[in-house]
Amino acid sequence: MESLLYISQSCIPPSDAAAVIGSIVATSVEQNSARGLTGALLFTGTHFVDELMAKVLDDPRHNNLLVVTRECVAKRRFSDLSMAYFGPSQFVSRHVKRLLNDPSPVEKRRGAEWLTELLREFSSAKCR
Ligand SMILES: Cc1cc2nc3c(=O)[nH]c(=O)nc-3n(C[C@H](O)[C@H](O)[C@H](O)COP(=O)(O)O)c2cc1C
Repeated sequence: MESLLYISQSCIPPSDAAAVIGSIVATSVEQNSARGLTGALLFTGTHFVDELMAKVLDDPRHNNLLVVTRECVAKRRFSDLSMAYFGPSQFVSRHVKRLLNDPSPVEKRRGAEWLTELLREFSSAKCR
């Protein structure tokens, strides 16, 4: 199973963000469960942090994509959720921007650990 963690810049006008992201999440929940995919999406106000799949990468509603990690995993990270959505969270924005400014292997590894842990914590809080 492939797991992909990426950061992308939102192309959605801020005033439309709630509605457009609502529709992305609705589509994702439907399609991901139909395809047996799981994922977690976070919105900082300007960027998305997403853990998911290849075809989403071509969507014109985001660009300047930075793939933080792409790896094979034995186990799903977000097993119960076809798409967990958290946001908008300005709080994460500073860390995301730092990673985008310095996407060196060391920073990517550090960022991947931090973001994966954050998404995991948010998902478990959401399930309670
Ligand atoms: C940041 C972002 C994350 C997305 N995540 C998903 C996802 O997890 N699952 C999904 O089916 N579509 C996701 N989409 C939407 C897809 O790119 C695509 O528009 C949608 O799956 C409909 O595809 P279709 O017209 O081929 O059915 C996402 C889009 C964006 C901008």
